[in-house]
Amino acid sequence: MTCDLVIFGAKGDLSCRKLLPSLYKLEESNKLSKNMRIIGVGRANWSTTEYISIVQKSLKRFMKKKIEEDIWKIFSTRLNFCNLDVNETDNFLKLKNILCRRNSVIINYFAMPPNTFSSICKGLGKMNLNFEPNRIIIEKPLGLSLETSKEINNEISKYFKENQIFRIDHYLGKETILNLLAFRFANSLFYYNWNNKFIDHMQITIAEEIGIEDRKKYFNSTGQIRDMVQSHLLQILSIITMSKPIDLCSDNIQDEKIKILKALRPFNSVNIHKKVILGQYSSGIMKGKKISSYLKDIGDEPSNTETFASIKVNIDTKEWKGVPFYLRTGKRLPKKYSEIVIFFKPIPINIFGNHYNNLYKNKITIFLQPNEGIQIKIINKIPELELKYNLTTANLNFNYSKDFGKVILFDAYEKLLLEGIKGNRSLFVRRDEVELSWIWIDSIFNSFKGRKMSPILYSPGTWGPELSNSMINYDGNKWNEF
Ligand code: BG6
Repeated sequence: MTCDLVIFGAKGDLSCRKLLPSLYKLEESNKLSKNMRIIGVGRANWSTTEYISIVQKSLKRFMKKKIEEDIWKIFSTRLNFCNLDVNETDNFLKLKNILCRRNSVIINYFAMPPNTFSSICKGLGKMNLNFEPNRIIIEKPLGLSLETSKEINNEISKYFKENQIFRIDHYLGKETILNLLAFRFANSLFYYNWNNKFIDHMQITIAEEIGIEDRKKYFNSTGQIRDMVQSHLLQILSIITMSKPIDLCSDNIQDEKIKILKALRPFNSVNIHKKVILGQYSSGIMKGKKISSYLKDIGDEPSNTETFASIKVNIDTKEWKGVPFYLRTGKRLPKKYSEIVIFFKPIPINIFGNHYNNLYKNKITIFLQPNEGIQIKIINKIPELELKYNLTTANLNFNYSKDFGKVILFDAYEKLLLEGIKGNRSLFVRRDEVELSWIWIDSIFNSFKGRKMSPILYSPGTWGPELSNSMINYDGNKWNEF
């Protein structure tokens, strides 16, 4: 069956930076079905011809590669523009007239803020464009708390069934995240050791060099925890800790993730200051460049919004009892870098001397981005003439670009769009996952209620406030060094 992809928010940042370049690349890989149309929806008064030339300019700006003439020729014929204000449900007739010229599956991508979702759904419902197998793809953030998230989900579910709703978390489309399933469940070497008997603790870091760019309004009402922890970090945490699903069906994978999300220990007003450290970047010099403070970036307004968070997490399951998980994420950190680090417990009685237990521990580092790969730190004997057992460590390395030759790590949005178009839900997030993660996130903000929640200032180009180090050092651990 043919399909049509409708993009609400045709000229928005997400469309220009991510969706259109990804669709163009899917064209290049010959993955778009022959008759598929792409219908940009927006308030601009453009004709389709004008829209086509705007898309061409935007692709030139945002794609890191040249536009090939023959590919563009095919791609541009797919493009249509529909001028409509999503707040006027009657306006959706214009869209219906374009769509109903033929019988196709309609995939609606909401590349707009969540406060518009309800009217888009209403408009689609009014025109009977919400029946199966039509579907919607929606972007985070789905709310700012459990309550607001439920409101959005309830509104959407008046018009679309859960199996028609594809919630994006773009980290789920990253190759290194997808590989976590293979790494954990195809390698007996790790499979049997993945619990509190062998693992001492884990660290997950998503660091960014950039500040808030031109998203000040969005970011100031959201902050780093709601923007990054509720979605990407909790997804990674649940995948790296979940039990083996019975198969690769999306519901079975999601069921396992749910068990972890349910077992996240909530915070309370007594422990919150020891377990959650919040920071906000000040002005300073980073890589020789002057950086303005967060407050300056949002227009010199007072704000308690955090641009950095490090959090100690406990998972109350029998597999993970006693294992701390440290999450860390922030803007204006020394570099763009994401990794998962797994620290193993030492051997109980070390025949080479117990001092080695403190000195060297096995460690697995999963480089999520950049330089995607996996490194395993192992302990070895130092080669010497005399028979001595002096030990040191060395690394076993797997690196995508070296080991797979000319490997292409497709952009997450390419993968997500492709699977969304195919109707495969396994890379998308289910409603209960979103709501459970909000329950836990709410426990952070509720625990701060009535107490001081002002983030601590940190200089750009550092790893956040010093208290982030103290938090982990208190347990006898330290952040992995890059
Ligand atoms: C988005 C957040 O979901 O992820 C942004 O809203 C953040 O604030 C971005 O910059 C990071 O994504 P990536 O893929 O560049 O790590």
